Amino acid sequence: MDEIIIGNLVKGGKPTKEKVGINIRNLVLHGLVSGSTGTGKSKALQVMAEQLSEDGVPVLLADLKGDMSGFINPNLSPDSALRMKGMGVPYKPSSFKANFFSVGTKFVPIRMRLDQVDATLVAKILSLNQIQESNLKTAFMYAKSEGNELYDMAALRDTLVYLSKNPSAAPGFSKASADVILRQINVFLGSGLDELFGEPSIELPDLLKSGAINVVDL
Ligand SMILES: Nc1ncnc2c1ncn2[C@@H]1O[C@H](COP(=O)(O)OP(=O)(O)OP(=O)(O)O)[C@@H](O)[C@H]1O
Ligand SMILES: [Mg+2]
Repeated sequence: MDEIIIGNLVKGGKPTKEKVGINIRNLVLHGLVSGSTGTGKSKALQVMAEQLSEDGVPVLLADLKGDMSGFINPNLSPDSALRMKGMGVPYKPSSFKANFFSVGTKFVPIRMRLDQVDATLVAKILSLNQIQESNLKTAFMYAKSEGNELYDMAALRDTLVYLSKNPSAAPGFSKASADVILRQINVFLGSGLDELFGEPSIELPDLLKSGAINVVDL
């Protein structure tokens, strides 16, 4: 397939038989689907995801509102069949291979080990300033040199508590800075977002299965 069809051209408020497609090569670029509410943005994205899936291309979708959930059941509604007939598009309802992921255990949990995430990103997540970030990096390096695996935020907290009590173990480590990081970690642990970090880690091949539509519940 060279292009995916996103719909029919509308002229004078009425759909024509003329198809509107996107060259599949252009889908590696950024795109923007815009329009006021109810104009069909989500449907347009669904249609794109489904055609990519049919073509064996894996898709990753971030679902903010729960409206990316209808891939598995074929749409048998008579209205849809009628509309497709009106547009002159052959209509064969089908189901798609979809995987549903979430942070936490609502669906398949998306998790990654904390030490697989760059310390700079962890500092951003914890809203740290530059000095605190450099302390965080010191703690990461200390844990690595000791062979301690930082699976999750709780493991990082334990490392910071240890270094606060034994600052000589990691030259340059500041207890004052660690106190701030620990406070931020406690806020983070209370938010439920800490479920993002831990094992088993999601691996890229999990999302690259041929034609899979991967929906992440946000
Ligand atoms: N191409 C289409 N063919 C048939 N019906 C459509 C199409 N696009 C949208 N609709 C209908 O319009 C409704 C709203 O579309 P959709 O949810 O995609 O809008 P939206 O732009 O994402 O809205 P919101 O901003 O509220 O998320 C759909 O539930 C569907 O009934
Ligand atoms: Mg929408």
